[in-house]
Amino acid sequence: MKILVVGGGGREHAIIMKLAESKRTEKLYCTPGNGGISRYAECFDVAATDIDGVVALAKQLAVDMVVVAPDDPLVLGMVDALNAEGFMTFGPDKAAAIIEGSKVFSKDLMKKYNIPTAKYEIFSDSDSAIAYLKSENSYPAVIKADGLALGKGVIIAQNEEEAIEAVKSMIDGKQFGESSSTVVIEEFLTGPEVSVLSFTDGNVVVPMISSMDHKRALDGDKGLNTGGMGTIAPNPFYTEDVAKECMETIFLPTINAMKAEGRTFKGCLYFGLMVTPKGVKVIEYNCRFGDPETQVVLPLLDADLVDIFEAIYNGKLADVDIKWKNECCSCVVMASGGYPQSYPKGIEMNGMDDKGQVDGVFVYHAGTKFADGKFLTNGGRVLGVTATGESLQAALDKSYDAVKKITFEGAHYRTDIGQRALSANK
Ligand code: AMP
Ligand code: GLY
Repeated sequence: MKILVVGGGGREHAIIMKLAESKRTEKLYCTPGNGGISRYAECFDVAATDIDGVVALAKQLAVDMVVVAPDDPLVLGMVDALNAEGFMTFGPDKAAAIIEGSKVFSKDLMKKYNIPTAKYEIFSDSDSAIAYLKSENSYPAVIKADGLALGKGVIIAQNEEEAIEAVKSMIDGKQFGESSSTVVIEEFLTGPEVSVLSFTDGNVVVPMISSMDHKRALDGDKGLNTGGMGTIAPNPFYTEDVAKECMETIFLPTINAMKAEGRTFKGCLYFGLMVTPKGVKVIEYNCRFGDPETQVVLPLLDADLVDIFEAIYNGKLADVDIKWKNECCSCVVMASGGYPQSYPKGIEMNGMDDKGQVDGVFVYHAGTKFADGKFLTNGGRVLGVTATGESLQAALDKSYDAVKKITFEGAHYRTDIGQRALSANK
């Protein structure tokens, strides 16, 4: 098969490497891709959100399958446009992608179908939101933009002043444009977080191996929120009991709810979960593979990803045998100096071979460019240095050994990826 992957980050690099393992893969294309991806797949200049452009590219390349990885094209309906042209696709259509595209939709869905989540109220004018905050008077308070906001639409306000400021800048200041003209204010939950990506064809749901993200920029979960500074899999807080509870109270009910709403979800449904003292609750749904969760999940998949994608498209996921390796995986993100705030681009990187790799690990490229035989930085999160091992410690040792071999000016990374999981294992 000739396969086009839409997107250009570490997640897409991980998807491409797994597709490359399949004997059914003849040729891999990616748009826009990045420096590291370009060493494994032919890359194009069409933006991931350019629906007409991607449809035209798929036609020009006469591909057999298109994998749409990022949230924005999914929410905009790229899969609908590709399906209308007869392409086999991986990813939910617009009607189903709303589960990530609108927090108001997803919260109301959970309420209607009794799926456990934080208590919430919805507001479109700041005066009522502020009156509600004052009447609840409970902090921290969680304020979320309704729509997509590049992963930055969630504010955990520690006091009334911060909460009022967040509400005003989202609703009145249009901080995230239309995405924040409506906000959800919800109860603050506590407990370890677990990410579970799942394959689903709308009828059957197959959870992948669990993982843990590290969202804050600095060691000890300090600093600003980021897209994710590292991940490990499996997540020790996702015990067999938790998994069973999730399947019964969250995974199946969600798939069935989407079907009942006429929004059958096909693709990867991401469950962002919190294991609270009162049971597992949904923090968020994503309509796609997580980034950087995918980087630690797919290396542990012991099945053919092309077979899985095709079965999902055909509604035959029940026929595929999906197994996982009995190993651990870790991904340490190397970021540009300044990230998650402003950072420079175009800085030369050293320590990688001509494929952008280092022996003993896999380096998934997130924000890089390949020019004149050199790798240059081209984004906030630059690389995801990923290793598997018999234990989490073994995987982490390999990731960190490789991280030390790669250098670029201003590079920063967390030195404590996996520590919380290691202490939980003891
Ligand atoms: P999100 O962008 O929805 O993944 O949210 C970012 C982070 O905010 C999550 O990973 C959680 O750590 C935190 N968060 C979101 N909602 C809540 C909540 N209701 N209670 C506590 N923390 C939350
Ligand atoms: N790592 C979190 C996400 O993909 O949304």
